[in-house]
Amino acid sequence: MFGKFSLNKKGNSELPAVNPSELSRIPEHVAIIMDGNGRWAQRRGLPRIAGHREAMKTVKRITAEAQHLGVKVLTLYTFSTENWKRPKAEVDFLMKLPEQFLHSYLVELKKNNVQVQVMGDLSIIPEHTLLAVNQAISETKNNSGLILNFALNYGSYAELTQAIKRIAQDVLDRKLAIDAIDVQAVSARLLNPELPAPDLLIRTGGELRLSNFMLWQLAYTELYFTDVYWPDFAEEDLRQAIHSFSERQRRYGGLNGGGTK
Ligand code: IPE
Ligand code: IPE
Ligand code: MG
Repeated sequence: MFGKFSLNKKGNSELPAVNPSELSRIPEHVAIIMDGNGRWAQRRGLPRIAGHREAMKTVKRITAEAQHLGVKVLTLYTFSTENWKRPKAEVDFLMKLPEQFLHSYLVELKKNNVQVQVMGDLSIIPEHTLLAVNQAISETKNNSGLILNFALNYGSYAELTQAIKRIAQDVLDRKLAIDAIDVQAVSARLLNPELPAPDLLIRTGGELRLSNFMLWQLAYTELYFTDVYWPDFAEEDLRQAIHSFSERQRRYGGLNGGGTK
């Protein structure tokens, strides 16, 4: 009925549907600020936690689609260092989600050769949450497919502060000369330093901010914001975001593709 302009009720309905074969460039690392769960629920007259529960389904769908499209690393902002400010009942619920998610999904992740990683300060994560996360990490550590990286109790201020402390300690210990502190030295002391910087950042839920997410690593990342609430974010929305990415020219401060001439 809508021909090429097929209606996608869940996402950007005014845009033509994207066929995976049209995607000329696939970002190696996609990071997502999964926002809008609470508003999704409230709009339906449901408690906020219903939105978080629904969000897990989106994580499954989007992980599968990212893998299908050939993304190598998918980082998902799951819980920020500032999210502890929320009511205890909501925080408690959010801390139960990794267990629930992995209980129903770890088998499939293993089957799909996905490697689970986590990025954040795990020292204050409840024991039961940590157990589930560590089990997933250890049972998938030899997998060579998509890296599914959960940013859990993650915040850039905390990450950069601990990197600065480590640099200071290394200087005090005479392992590092002040003149040797460069971009590489800082990057190496961030969390998950082996991961490449995100090529594409997606934020759902309509807010136009980074909310303390990967501030260092996002220096040259392409940004994509959508009003779609995370529980409604569909495979087609991911393809739209990647389509937008594939049409951009990344210059890194240079001219025409970063050349030196
Ligand atoms: C994102 O959805 C999930 C977390 C921050 C844990 P929100 O819970 O922030 O949903 P909104 O932004 O209030 O709609
Ligand atoms: C960012 O969303 C954190 C996560 C998605 C986990 P928030 O909902 O916490 O961000 P703010 O408070 O609107 O900036
Ligand atoms: Mg929010």
